[in-house]
Amino acid sequence: MDMIIKNGTVVNASGAFKADVGIENGKIVCIADSISVGDCENVVDASGKLVLPGAIDAHTHLAMPFGGTVSSDDYFAGTRAAACGGTTTVFDFALQDFGEKMTDTVKRRDALCAPVAAVDYSFHVAVKDVENGLINGIGECVDIGVPSFKVFMVYDFGVTDGVFFQVLQKAKEVGALIEVHAENNELVNTLTKKYLSEGNTSAWYHYMSRPEFVEGEADERAIQWAKATGAPLYIVHLADKQGVEAVTKAKDEGYEIYAETCPQYLEFTSEVYKREDGRNFVCSPPMKGKESQVAIWEAIKRGDIDTVATDHCPFQSYEKDWGKDDFSKIPNGCAGIENMYPYMLSAANIGRISFEQAVALCSANPARIFGCKDKGAVSVGKDADIVIYDPTIDFTITNEKMHSDCDHTIWEGVTVHGYPVQTYCRGKLVYDNGEFVGEKGYGKFVKCSLK
Ligand code: URP
Ligand code: ZN
Ligand code: ZN
Repeated sequence: MDMIIKNGTVVNASGAFKADVGIENGKIVCIADSISVGDCENVVDASGKLVLPGAIDAHTHLAMPFGGTVSSDDYFAGTRAAACGGTTTVFDFALQDFGEKMTDTVKRRDALCAPVAAVDYSFHVAVKDVENGLINGIGECVDIGVPSFKVFMVYDFGVTDGVFFQVLQKAKEVGALIEVHAENNELVNTLTKKYLSEGNTSAWYHYMSRPEFVEGEADERAIQWAKATGAPLYIVHLADKQGVEAVTKAKDEGYEIYAETCPQYLEFTSEVYKREDGRNFVCSPPMKGKESQVAIWEAIKRGDIDTVATDHCPFQSYEKDWGKDDFSKIPNGCAGIENMYPYMLSAANIGRISFEQAVALCSANPARIFGCKDKGAVSVGKDADIVIYDPTIDFTITNEKMHSDCDHTIWEGVTVHGYPVQTYCRGKLVYDNGEFVGEKGYGKFVKCSLK
């Protein structure tokens, strides 16, 4: 064997147990009470530590052209930061150009990502154009291992309800999964115009122009189209109570509706937009009020939220400053790729959820929902994507300790209880006690299949 992790507690979504883990050629080949060391030269002592599957961040925007600029972590910086937070697979949104075949969208982004990715990666295609036969790209992408697609109901690249409906119909036909950013675009535009014309320009009015009902109505409408077409639907970055209730109801009725939330909605409320640095927290949907936050946590506990992902889309301070006097000019998005797994594991460590739940939300469920067959568990036959986690370390997040290229983090000063000490991606050590030790270009494209 190439490596043996000894004396740790393996935690999967299905349960926790003490075991040794044997690794060969990047795969987990043996899990047993005790594995004899033999001539293995790489033995890691995980006494007192948890041995976890690497996280899968199903929602990132790396080097994304957006808000008049490009998000500040490219595919290397973003995946480097991911590795240092225990994330071994990253899904990025490949945004289709108008007139572009979706398979070409994937190839265009893969050409940027493959040479530099430090951990494994895959793509969802963000659909803009389905005219002139481009809708058939959905089936073509399924065939090349990219079976998930996103539509935005907002922004200048948002789609109409009609396009959304067609995309769902096609997904149902070819076995794809559609994700949606659900907010009511008309209301956002109307409220934005109103507040700006009244001279209400601060970051607080980002929240006021996208309050709970702006997201809630769109969540319900999206679920309505999924029900009508019979297609599965995955709601990204769910942040409001009304949406949570709609998801719970649809699930109870037997519809295949999945919901993702993000750590920022679990930690912060809309109060952050009153802070001096409020613009740094501007993302869409915005953080909501306490009632929504409580509803999301409750939904996590009862299993109605399927995944936690980051929506990592950082911008530098000078770019956030463009909106100092006009909230609508603040590029939308925040950093979080390095914080998700530690944050959710910390929630487990302090007893808010179980470790099994944290692993389900951040690894096993995204692997299952997006069809990463080799990921999502510490079990024989899976890729050796493993995090060694020390539950005794307290770690206070500061931007200096992060591995992103962004010059600030909304997580500054937040303390998590417990922290990853090592991350392995397919058996290769990529993070070791505070240091990135991986390699540019090591990450491989993960071919996904929903069949
Ligand atoms: O503010 C955000 N979330 N920026 C990234 C794009 C998106 O909406 O997912
Ligand atoms: Zn979004
Ligand atoms: Zn996003």
